[in-house]
Amino acid sequence: MTGTPPAPQATLVIFGITGDLSHRLLMPSLINMTASGLVDDQLSIIGIGRTEGDDEWLRSGFDPDEAKTSTPATAWESLRGRISYLRGDLKQPATYERLASMLEERGDGNVAFYFATAPEFFDDIIHQLANAGLLREHEGAFRRVAIEKPFGHDFESARELNRKILSLVDEKQVYRVDHFLGKETVQNIMVTRFANTMVESVWNSKYIEHVQITVAETVDVGGRGSFYDAAGALRDMVPNHLFQLLAMICMEPPNSFDAEAVRNEKAKVFRAIRGPRPEDVGRDAVRGRYSAGRIGDRKVGDYRAAKDVAPDSRTETYAALKLTVDSWRWAGVPFYLRTGKALSHRDSEVVLTFRPVPFAQFRGIDVSRLPPNKLVIQIQPDEGMTLDLIGKRPGPELEPAPVQMNFSHANAFGPSRTTGYETLLYDLLHGDQTLFQRADEIEAAWLALQPVIEAWQSGGEPEAYVAGSAGPKCAEELIERDGRQWHAIGP
Ligand code: BG6
Repeated sequence: MTGTPPAPQATLVIFGITGDLSHRLLMPSLINMTASGLVDDQLSIIGIGRTEGDDEWLRSGFDPDEAKTSTPATAWESLRGRISYLRGDLKQPATYERLASMLEERGDGNVAFYFATAPEFFDDIIHQLANAGLLREHEGAFRRVAIEKPFGHDFESARELNRKILSLVDEKQVYRVDHFLGKETVQNIMVTRFANTMVESVWNSKYIEHVQITVAETVDVGGRGSFYDAAGALRDMVPNHLFQLLAMICMEPPNSFDAEAVRNEKAKVFRAIRGPRPEDVGRDAVRGRYSAGRIGDRKVGDYRAAKDVAPDSRTETYAALKLTVDSWRWAGVPFYLRTGKALSHRDSEVVLTFRPVPFAQFRGIDVSRLPPNKLVIQIQPDEGMTLDLIGKRPGPELEPAPVQMNFSHANAFGPSRTTGYETLLYDLLHGDQTLFQRADEIEAAWLALQPVIEAWQSGGEPEAYVAGSAGPKCAEELIERDGRQWHAIGP
């Protein structure tokens, strides 16, 4: 982001400042942003939490070394004095009255409110902010709200939450966060597609045979049992992170890169997603739950034995599904999505498999024996792209052999020094909603999955897979039924 001007003067109010997200991602990102000049001394931060403490206590709880900048101490020195703590109950009007006077002391300018709390507080926070008059924009100063996921737990709850929020603020003030959109590799999908003639010209059902989207994780439920056991892999990952990847792959070229143009195209994709119908759920959507196993040197216990997980839980820790995108470009192309925890490797990727060449050009070699061209977009780790092609094996015969072209982000641009939240925070302060979800995108995403959510809720059990494996057998069967195989996870 060299040459990017610093974000405008603003106060960033973070609800849930003592939580994991603030510690692991938001504060380290703000330190990185300070180091790279994306924010300057025009930014002040008010953190709100329930724990007893003062400004100095809050500041001393952050570890600047969690930032990825090469100058964490210097950046932290410049930032730390501008962080204040407000201890308060998020349900009590008194908290918001105190917040109002703190903002007044700062001249009541631009304010972004970041909801980094558990979702059950979203409703209270936005109502209390509105009651305290803190969401009203005046004299050119902005008031924005950034809302973390999960945004609802199904179609109805997401619609209801949108209705409440939009009765208090305008859509232009709402920044619904999906942190996958902050990842460089995810944003790069758009650039790769729309800045390269040879990519976009084959980006359709005529040339692409099927698409796989995978977000495989090695982490298990850890200490998040109470949230995760109520959500499960499908809700936690699919309507947001995996569908955002899907939208980046499937969208039509926007007529500009401004927020509305990009989000209009993405919203069309969300509306065109055809997830399994109720009668197809058993065949086209499968779920798994990890049992005790080992991932590298780490022993992982049974999911149902984890802290805050019900011993008779039916929650899935793995989900896979097949869907289509009903559009001119993608008609007839199956999309296979899978995500799971406690798997053998951390690996998020999109794999596009191309159709075979139309006839056998090489003596004695049938086209069906040539491996298909594949474009693998590696989201994380080892960010980059590989293209599987066929080349000539050296020698007197014209013998085709598989070859690979590689692009590595680290080799091309140096190691990444970001958490992925820097762009999102910068855009929030700068007023660019491109990388945030609009109400209609979220609702359409939930709607596409509603039959699966309902079917899974009404009965059945996830199939067991051993922690450290590639997932449950039912996921292999889902894709094998179509004569295909999952791209192997891991290096
Ligand atoms: C979060 C999910 O949104 O994304 C987590 O709630 C998941 O369960 C995480 O582990 C994955 O994000 P990342 O950036 O670590 O791949």
